[in-house]
Amino acid sequence: MKLKAFLVGCLVLTATSIQADELIRIQTHNIDLILKVKDDGRLTQSYFGKHLRHDGDLRWLEDGRETYLTRTADVYFEPALDILHADGNPSTRLRHTAHTTNQLEQGVQETIVTLEDQKEPVSVRLHYIAYTAEDVIKVYTEIQNRQKKGIQLRKFASSMLHFDRAAYHLTQFNGNWADEVKMTTTPLAFGKKIMDSNLGTRADMYSQPQFILSLGQPATETTGEVLLGQLGWTGNFRFVFEVDEKGGLRVLSGINSDFSERTLAPGETFRTADFYFTLSQNGLEQASHNFHNWARRHQLKDGSADRLTLLNNWEATYFDFNEEKLVTLMDDAVRLGVDMFLLDDGWFANKYPRSSDNAGLGDWDETREKLPNGVGRLCDAAREKGIRFGIWIEPEMVNPKSELYERHPEWVLQTPNREPALFRNQLTLDLTNPRVQDFVFSIVDNLMTRYPEIAFFKWDCNSPIMNPYSPYLKDKQTHLYVDYVRGLYSVLERIKQKYPRLPMMMCSGGSGRIDYKGLEYFTEFWASDNTDPIERLFIQYGYSFFYPSKAVCAHVTTWNSRTSVKFRTDVALMGKLGFDIKLTDMSHEDIQYAQEAVRNYKRLKPVIMEGDLFRLVSPYEGQHAANVYVTPDQRHAVLFTFDVYPRFGEQRHNVVLRGLDPMRQYRIQEINLMPGQDTWVHDRTYSGDYLMNIGLDLFTGNKLNSRVVELTAE
Ligand code: DGJ
Repeated sequence: MKLKAFLVGCLVLTATSIQADELIRIQTHNIDLILKVKDDGRLTQSYFGKHLRHDGDLRWLEDGRETYLTRTADVYFEPALDILHADGNPSTRLRHTAHTTNQLEQGVQETIVTLEDQKEPVSVRLHYIAYTAEDVIKVYTEIQNRQKKGIQLRKFASSMLHFDRAAYHLTQFNGNWADEVKMTTTPLAFGKKIMDSNLGTRADMYSQPQFILSLGQPATETTGEVLLGQLGWTGNFRFVFEVDEKGGLRVLSGINSDFSERTLAPGETFRTADFYFTLSQNGLEQASHNFHNWARRHQLKDGSADRLTLLNNWEATYFDFNEEKLVTLMDDAVRLGVDMFLLDDGWFANKYPRSSDNAGLGDWDETREKLPNGVGRLCDAAREKGIRFGIWIEPEMVNPKSELYERHPEWVLQTPNREPALFRNQLTLDLTNPRVQDFVFSIVDNLMTRYPEIAFFKWDCNSPIMNPYSPYLKDKQTHLYVDYVRGLYSVLERIKQKYPRLPMMMCSGGSGRIDYKGLEYFTEFWASDNTDPIERLFIQYGYSFFYPSKAVCAHVTTWNSRTSVKFRTDVALMGKLGFDIKLTDMSHEDIQYAQEAVRNYKRLKPVIMEGDLFRLVSPYEGQHAANVYVTPDQRHAVLFTFDVYPRFGEQRHNVVLRGLDPMRQYRIQEINLMPGQDTWVHDRTYSGDYLMNIGLDLFTGNKLNSRVVELTAE
């Protein structure tokens, strides 16, 4: 076996023809994914793990299993690719024909491996985009039909990864409305474990498109080899984890192909969804930092920009408001000191006014009775008060009781000869239809044209696809789920092109639809309608594995008002802060406290939004939780500690910090105190070494208690 030259870091595109035992190395600072071209042209995954330091060692690597397994007669395991060829042949055999590596930008390299079936002409291109500094790899696959007739794509995974370890533990994120991202960890044993969704628009209502896979023992925050993976697809997804008879694990990631088989016309290419993953040798914390850094630098819309604090009127008014009420609420926003007022659902439709959720969706003109002077007057009022104005839309949906439905029933997904099934009294528009795409785009575009001062959109999506039939697609109904998402992306892309800096919140009846491809078009997402701060400790903890705090919208409301406003706000401060509450629901002291908390938040945004998160104590462990955010230069940190329902006489432990510089001295100050509240500590200084070995006695035996502590290096 001969070691060939590796195509790493080269700026020039390099193409190679078949060479036996050639290695293709995809690498980041700490990860190596090494593929091998075997004598017969088959491509195998030879190595995936920690970065290998000595190139000379690579010659000893084993062959490994086939990288992108296809359906053939002799394959027992679930394939990544399953094609029914034009001549009826159900098997595909791929052989390597070329590979290239190209530097896309500083620190981002793309390797493309081309595989072909010589007998049944199809080409498959595996794309690997490696983000060197962030240790994240993005993978997607292109499948091209080079036959003279159409072929049937029956399975089309984005990626397949192989592991050989002693044990595997899978953490999944499941839930429901107001009960999102519950984390459950189970060992994987022989056979298949499938995690998928078939809900279409609100695809992630029950299951999120991401997982944590511990290789060997379950990873902790700071120990263990662990893979974090997410599918970038705002629709149906499917992960298969298959353990074989020898303990080998195959991980397949992709769009759910159930009821999504595709006909690929001659010459047509199908591009799969993106799969993003990172591998850490140092536990979960490092893996999360990788995802957070990558998201802020490369993936999230305006990932490096600031975010606006806001006051939302949804829970303060629901549908019951008029211009006067809204303008009064704007005064609340000003008093709190937030940047923006966000007008939620209920401002539109005239023939069937949107005074509840059973009418008006689809008719995007202001309701004259509620807003006689239109949104323009609200923009004026916001400007006069020195704040920004944002607005809610749910552009993909329609109520049967609407003018839009009366005019265009053919624009709606509806199954022939069946009573339409409704979810929250609404139906889904047919985004596979270009005319519907134009309509959805025009909702944002018209509002922006009429009211260019609109500074923010909340884009909601409350229903799954309940009636999966597209009048537009006619005899290609199995293309619906994929083409819907493509239609959505095409609308979102047009919006991004025309309004590149417009901040937008992705929402789906809480967070029923969150993934990093969608977040290319959104600056943030609504994490849950459940804003009970105890539940939020868990929900925000779950999201923190993949998302940086600036993406996770967290609002202070009246949910669980047995907890203090301070407790609720301190929890919300760990995300992108907002309020959805009337000041009349707060005492004078609460308001004073909240004003101070908003000032602190604005001052500390560089730490909380851009710093590294260290999850010190998980809410899943018991009755306490703690997080610290630390700037990359380790000079500034904000620590949050929470006591939920401590048991009588329980043993408490110090909160031991991480991420500080052991050699520096840190001044410690408790902030976000209620007016007149005494603090546990007056201006003390500790070394980073002390704080990271001994820690601070911050947890208490008090119920529903919170503390926020600022650490400043001297
Ligand atoms: C569901 C969202 O999650 C809420 O925040 C709110 O916007 C409602 N929809 C409005 O109908």
